[in-house]
Amino acid sequence: MERQQPQWRGLRAKSAAWWFNSQARIRAERGTLETIKSKVNKDDTVLDLGAGTGYFTLAVAPMLETGKVIALDLSPEMLGSLIRSARKKRLTGRIEMVVGDATRTGLPDSSVDLIMSGNLLHELPNPEAAVQEMARVLRPGGRVVIHDFHDGIVGRLMKLMHHHDARGPLGVGEIGGMLEDAGFVEVAVTASGMRYLAAGRKDGACGVASGPACYFRTTMRPLAVSSGVVTR
Ligand SMILES: C[S@@+](CC[C@H](N)C(=O)[O-])C[C@H]1O[C@@H](n2cnc3c(N)ncnc32)[C@H](O)[C@@H]1O
Repeated sequence: MERQQPQWRGLRAKSAAWWFNSQARIRAERGTLETIKSKVNKDDTVLDLGAGTGYFTLAVAPMLETGKVIALDLSPEMLGSLIRSARKKRLTGRIEMVVGDATRTGLPDSSVDLIMSGNLLHELPNPEAAVQEMARVLRPGGRVVIHDFHDGIVGRLMKLMHHHDARGPLGVGEIGGMLEDAGFVEVAVTASGMRYLAAGRKDGACGVASGPACYFRTTMRPLAVSSGVVTR
């Protein structure tokens, strides 16, 4: 299957780098960052899906001691900006950049403890595929936090900025249903202003009957932390 072409490039990627990591945004969306940070453990493997210029990645990386953030995005230019910011903040050792598609990450099953995704799903033609991919790569018991435009006026205007096949913003009930259909439990969605914040946990932590294979699959973590850009 052909990979979708990045829309975030050229002038658009440059202006994004300016706004996406600005102090004004940090102030406006402080609540979301606090929610995400409250779910991070210092040895987690965290996936930032549609990481862009690294708004979430750069906030979480300093919290990790033995863990890492995998910052995945379709746009090499957006990740280029993330790398530059990470270098300035001396965080490259805790961040692995991946140029890839959120619906087919190429990451192993059950290899991630926490997924965070900001302002991505409304750009995709098939957000269900991305949510199912989240469920595949998360370990049982792993957590997901999604922050995106809901289907209010601003969200519907945002759709005009993207590929004609972008599905556009989801309703609060729609994203909740999508998470449950993908096997998430404890799903909670709150809407405030123009965005929703959706959280859930992947069901299916190992029990006695699951056997040793389940135990190893859910507890083994990748050992290497690299700061290169990987293309999947
Ligand atoms: C609006 S930006 C948000 C960036 C960042 N999460 C933030 O909140 O600042 C959306 C990002 O999703 C990326 N993106 C769009 N479609 C994608 C896909 N299919 N797979 C991975 N990333 C994608 C874009 O390249 C862009 O960097």
